[in-house]
Amino acid sequence: VRSPSVGAVEDSYSAHFHLSRLGRQPDGALPIEGLRMSQANYHEPVMVSEVVELFGPTPPGLVVDATVGGGGHAAALLASYPHLQLLGLDQDDEAVAAATTRLGVFGPRAVVRRDRFDRLPGLVAGRGGPAGPAARHARQSEPAGLPVGEGLPLVGALFDLGMSSYQLDRPERGFSYRFDGPLDMRMDRRQATTAADIVNAWSEERLAALLAAYGEGRLARSLARAMVRARPLRTTTQLADLVERSIPARARRRGHPAARVFQALRIAVNSELEVLGPTLAATVAALAPGGRCLVLSYHSGEDRLVKEVLGQAATGGCTCPPGLPCVCGARPWARLLSRGARLPTAEEVARNPRASAARLRAVERLDAPAGNEGAP
Ligand SMILES: C[S@@+](CC[C@H](N)C(=O)[O-])C[C@H]1O[C@@H](n2cnc3c(N)ncnc32)[C@H](O)[C@@H]1O
Repeated sequence: VRSPSVGAVEDSYSAHFHLSRLGRQPDGALPIEGLRMSQANYHEPVMVSEVVELFGPTPPGLVVDATVGGGGHAAALLASYPHLQLLGLDQDDEAVAAATTRLGVFGPRAVVRRDRFDRLPGLVAGRGGPAGPAARHARQSEPAGLPVGEGLPLVGALFDLGMSSYQLDRPERGFSYRFDGPLDMRMDRRQATTAADIVNAWSEERLAALLAAYGEGRLARSLARAMVRARPLRTTTQLADLVERSIPARARRRGHPAARVFQALRIAVNSELEVLGPTLAATVAALAPGGRCLVLSYHSGEDRLVKEVLGQAATGGCTCPPGLPCVCGARPWARLLSRGARLPTAEEVARNPRASAARLRAVERLDAPAGNEGAP
């Protein structure tokens, strides 16, 4: 399994793309066509057996799938664990429609709502273990009253980051350099800012900084300059062609030259990394003792952040030199469920190329003494 790298994400979709161009999905089903497609084809969930296994020991209660997408992981969890109820969140209306249909068979055990996951800690405040300042803050900012899991503790949270196959495969959503479409890339289409707004309005310096942060290195400045000169850029094809023309052959890496540029823009349009760290920290703090938080990430910037936040929960923010006994008084509020990230099996990657960049990290909330203020 190759390690995830910036820009690898859309490249790993190419096998699916070629099959769907031929008119068939890899499993032989009809190609994606709006929500009339089979719900199972919306998105093939990644590392689903590992996710199900990791939630095995959780006590009865509520699990939040913070990125419910087509509901693939959620359906597997509900089918495997009758003692769990599930709240699915997604900021994309089409995902909410797909997951609502898919999870309908579970009746009142599953509720899906359109929401951004940074609102999760507020939605579940008060269902966890000993409260830290973050949980108190969340309680103040959001009234209770979820339509699922009334009175149950929060025993799980799943974040399957990035975009779904459905989003990527819809030309009009503008996520892919492989199809001609508007430069949109919004997951939440009620949001105002699109990729075209960024490409056509940001300064050259700001565009260069964005591209540099997401892997374009020495090319970031010249790409930003080319983008500013070519304004207005309105379509995915215009941008992809421009990037292709602007990168000298000797500087090309594996995969499509526009992959990293599209990824950087998508992350900026959806403010993906800004909200992730604080949301994860507050979610782990909001879990009941024994509750588990799992995160699937698909590029190195995301995974670095996830590792840092979960590591902080597992050390309690200890500042003592590694290898020496802790004398700073830090108290961990979670334990890591594996030393490093778990990777998909070679079989899964062969079956589903999208899984190739996946990294799965997980923690379990510790039982903290009453009055513990250690949690963030
Ligand atoms: C990789 S897909 C999830 C697929 C899902 N696990 C399944 O089994 O179908 C990621 C989903 O997260 C959603 N998403 C990304 N960022 C989000 C955020 N900040 N808040 C809510 N949903 C988000 C996207 O709209 C997308 O549908």
